[in-house]
Amino acid sequence: MKTIIELITDEIKNVFAECGYDEAYAKVTVSNRPDLCEFQCNGAMAAAKAYKKAPFMIADEVVAKLADNKMFSKIESVKPGFININICEDYLAGYLNEMSETEKFGYVNSESNKTVIVDYGGANAAKPLHVGHLRSAVIGESVKRINTFVGNKTIGDVHLGDWGLQMGLIIEELRDRKPELPYFDDSFTGEYPEEAPFTISELEEIYPAASAKSKEDIAFAERAHEATLKLQSGDKACRAIWHHIMNVSKADLKKNYDNLNVHFDLWKGESDAQPYIDDMVNKMIADGIAYESQGATVVDIQQEGDTKELPPCIVRKSDGAALYATSDLATIVEREKLYHPDTYIYLADKRQELHFTQVFRTAKKAGIVAPDADMRFVGFGTMNGKDGKPFKTRSGGVMRLEHLIADIDEAVYEKIMSNRTVEETEARDTAKIVGLAALKYGDLSNQASKDYVFDIERFSSFEGNTGPYILYTIVRIKSILNKYTENGGSTNNLKIMAATEESEKNLSLSLIKFADIIDGAYRDNAPHKICQFIYEVSNAFNGFYHNNKILSEPDEAKKASYIALISLTKSILEQCIDLLAIECPDRM
Ligand code: ARG
Repeated sequence: MKTIIELITDEIKNVFAECGYDEAYAKVTVSNRPDLCEFQCNGAMAAAKAYKKAPFMIADEVVAKLADNKMFSKIESVKPGFININICEDYLAGYLNEMSETEKFGYVNSESNKTVIVDYGGANAAKPLHVGHLRSAVIGESVKRINTFVGNKTIGDVHLGDWGLQMGLIIEELRDRKPELPYFDDSFTGEYPEEAPFTISELEEIYPAASAKSKEDIAFAERAHEATLKLQSGDKACRAIWHHIMNVSKADLKKNYDNLNVHFDLWKGESDAQPYIDDMVNKMIADGIAYESQGATVVDIQQEGDTKELPPCIVRKSDGAALYATSDLATIVEREKLYHPDTYIYLADKRQELHFTQVFRTAKKAGIVAPDADMRFVGFGTMNGKDGKPFKTRSGGVMRLEHLIADIDEAVYEKIMSNRTVEETEARDTAKIVGLAALKYGDLSNQASKDYVFDIERFSSFEGNTGPYILYTIVRIKSILNKYTENGGSTNNLKIMAATEESEKNLSLSLIKFADIIDGAYRDNAPHKICQFIYEVSNAFNGFYHNNKILSEPDEAKKASYIALISLTKSILEQCIDLLAIECPDRM
C-alpha cells in the first residue's frame, strides 16, 4: 500500500504539473502545526523562486484545482504560500479498512530481500551477564526483529567473547584449587567426560577471584597468560577445560537471554574465527595491505576526508598474538563464506566506535568484503544511575542483570498489588512480564547512542511514556473487546466508518503513520522511533476512550465501527511491541 503521504503527494504532484510547475515541488509532510491542519505542502514557496511568481499565487492556483477533490476535507492556501491540508474522514476510514485487511498493515519494503547479520549480545563466556550487556541484547533483538519484519533474512549472532585472557585465568585458578584433576597431569590423554568439574556458581566465583589474584600475584598473571597462549595453540588439556567452561557458561547465558526474551540464531564466538586468522593476515601481508610496524603487523585505515587522524588497525601483535580486531575481521571472513550477508549490523558500546571503523575499513581494503559493503555500527550509550554515573549496586559493585530484573519485577509487583484486583500468584506472573517491559522500554525509548538514567520508579510507572503504560493500554483494549464478544458481538468483518469526532480522527491519524514509522526505524536502526509511535497511539487511544462510550454506544453501526477501530489499534500496538521484544499480559 502507498502511505497516506504518498497518496496526497500524488494528487498534489498532478496539479503542480497541470499548472506547469515541476512536480518535484509537491512535497507533503505531516503538519508541524496540528492546530492548523493535518498535512502541509510548502512547495509553492520553493517554486516561487524558480518561476518568479509570488508564492501565494502558486498556492492559490494549486488549491483551486483541488477544491473538489474527495480526498480532502479542507485544502487551503495561507499566506505567504503554505498549502494546508486536512484529510477527509471518509477517505481516512477507507484507508484504515484497507490497512486492516492488508498484510503488515500495508507496509511494503522498497528494497529486496537482504541477508542481514546482526551481531549483538556480545557476552563474555565465564563471566556473569551484567547491565552493560543489557543494552546490546535489548536493542539488538529489536533491530533484528525490525529487519525480519521488513522482509530481510536476518541472522542474529551472540558473538561470545570466548577466547581471551579470562580462559587462562580460570584454567590456572582451577589448577591451584583442584590439582588432582586429570587435566593437570602430564599423562592427560585428551579424553574427558561430558560433565564439567565445576558448577556455574563455582565458575562465577572462580573468575573474579582469579582476576583479583592476577593483579597482585605477578607469577600467577604470567601463568594465566601462558595458559591462554597454550589454549590458543591447541593444547589438549587447556582445550578440554575450555570446553567445560563453554558448556557450563553457555547453558547459563542461554537461560539468562531466554529470560530476557532474546533469542540468537547463532551461538558463535571469537574462538570460531581463529582458524581463519593465519591465512587472512598472511594474505594481507602478501597483498601489501598489512605491513610491519614496531614489530606488530598493521593496516593503515586513514582515508581522504577524515577530519582527524585515525590509528592503524593492528592485526597481529609483536608476540604473534591476535587481537580483538583480528577476531572480528576473521569472523567476517567466516560469515562471508557461510552466509554471504548483504548487511552487517553490530551493536556494542559506543566507545568501541574506533574499533569498528578500523575493522570495517580494513575488511574493505583487504577485499574481505566489497568496497561498498553495507557495514553498520550501532553504538549505544551507558545506563547510568541517578547520580549520572554508570549504574552500580548499592555497595558500588557491578549490578548483575538478574538482580536488576528482580528489582524491577518487585517494583511492578508492588504497583499491581496496590491496585488490589489480582491474586498474589497472578500478580507475580504479571509483574514478570510487565517488569521486563518496563526495563526494555526504559532502554529502547531513548535514542541508542544517548546515555540514560535507570530510574526504577519512572520505568515502572503506569503513567507517562513507559512500558507499563503501553501494556496497560493494550490490556484495556483487550478487555473492551472481550466484553464485546462476551455480549454476543462478533469482531469479524467490521468496518471502520468515517470519524465523527476529534479524538476518533486523532487516533485514525496516528494509526496511518505505521508504515512510515517502521521505515524510519528500519533505515536508522532506531527502535526508539517505534516507542515514540506507540506512545502517540496509546495517548490517542486513551483520548478516544475517555471521550466515547464504546460498549454502551446505542447506534449499533457506530459501535461496530468503534470496535473495528480499536481492534486495529490493538493489532498495531501488539505488532509494535513484538518488534521491541516486549510481551503483554492478558490482565494487569
Ligand atoms: N564481547 C565484547 C564486550 O564485552 C562485545 C562484542 C561486540 N561485538 C563484536 N563483534 N566485537 O565488549
